[in-house]
Amino acid sequence: MIEQLEQVRVDALQEISRADSLKLVEELRVKFLGRKGVLTGLLRSVSQASPEERPVLGKAANELKLQLTASLDQKFDDLQAIEKSRTARNDFFDVTLPGRRPRLGHLHVISQVAEEIVAIFAELGFQVATGPEIETEYYNFDALNTPPDHPARDLHDTFFVRPGVVLRTHTSPVQMRVMEKMQPPVAVVAPGRVYRVDADATHSPMFFQIEGLLVDEGVGFADLKGTLMHFIHRLFGKDVQMRFRPHFFPFTEPSAELDILWTSDKGGGGSQTKWMEILGCGMVHPEVFKHAGYDPERYTGFAFGLGVDRIAMVRHRISSITYLYESDMRFLEQF
Ligand code: PHE
Repeated sequence: MIEQLEQVRVDALQEISRADSLKLVEELRVKFLGRKGVLTGLLRSVSQASPEERPVLGKAANELKLQLTASLDQKFDDLQAIEKSRTARNDFFDVTLPGRRPRLGHLHVISQVAEEIVAIFAELGFQVATGPEIETEYYNFDALNTPPDHPARDLHDTFFVRPGVVLRTHTSPVQMRVMEKMQPPVAVVAPGRVYRVDADATHSPMFFQIEGLLVDEGVGFADLKGTLMHFIHRLFGKDVQMRFRPHFFPFTEPSAELDILWTSDKGGGGSQTKWMEILGCGMVHPEVFKHAGYDPERYTGFAFGLGVDRIAMVRHRISSITYLYESDMRFLEQF
């Protein structure tokens, strides 16, 4: 019997030391000390032992009971402590950690530059006007003194929607739409998309223009030059180099183009510098005024059409217009 008790002690202590959960500890308590437990059974059989053995066995069994109880209690406390510290670690909430910022988008570089340009003209008192991108041939060409046999009407340059209807090839039709609604003095800028059958490093089939129109009594070419030079200086700084070049447009007379000296970054760290045409301009043609119902004897005015993409390229040293429309985040995120 003493040997049996000894075996129980070895088994029980080993199982207790291996227990790794509070539930298991309680199961062991039942297994060894419960009413139908191993040790309880042995204690009961002490009564059947001989009178000499009884006290010795009883004492040994009681000692074992105390030892196992203490051992189970100790294990229970240890496991409980571990569990507590574990949940405490999981529940820990550091209120001083910075929050996760949601990713925010921003305006496309074209929109940024367009807004900047419009703001400069708004300072000068120009209002903002808009017109449709799907335009009639009348507004896109005829009203702008561009006859049916003009090369600009060629299928190679113009996207036709159906006979008589085109994707506007410039923002100039907005000139006419504005003049039909307003009497001079008129000073408007009209930003928007335009379309041409054209694609290379500096041309895209869809691009952005900002039209400008100013009409009043006594407006001269000096006003045109002064306004555009002021604009260029505001946008690029006073050190920028620019030149007006005589040109031809059916709807302005005289006409000019304005170039800016443009340095673009090339791959491999090099750069190239050349003149970049960024706008067309001129004095509004008397024929255009006649279509608008303005008296060409009384009113004069100037108009211009800015290439927003070109200006963005000069502004940010972008080497190809295609970058602007590829939606490559690595490019766009730089602005
Ligand atoms: N509409 C012309 C173009 O797209 C630019 C322009 C606008 C020229 C106004 C003169 C006056 O090329």
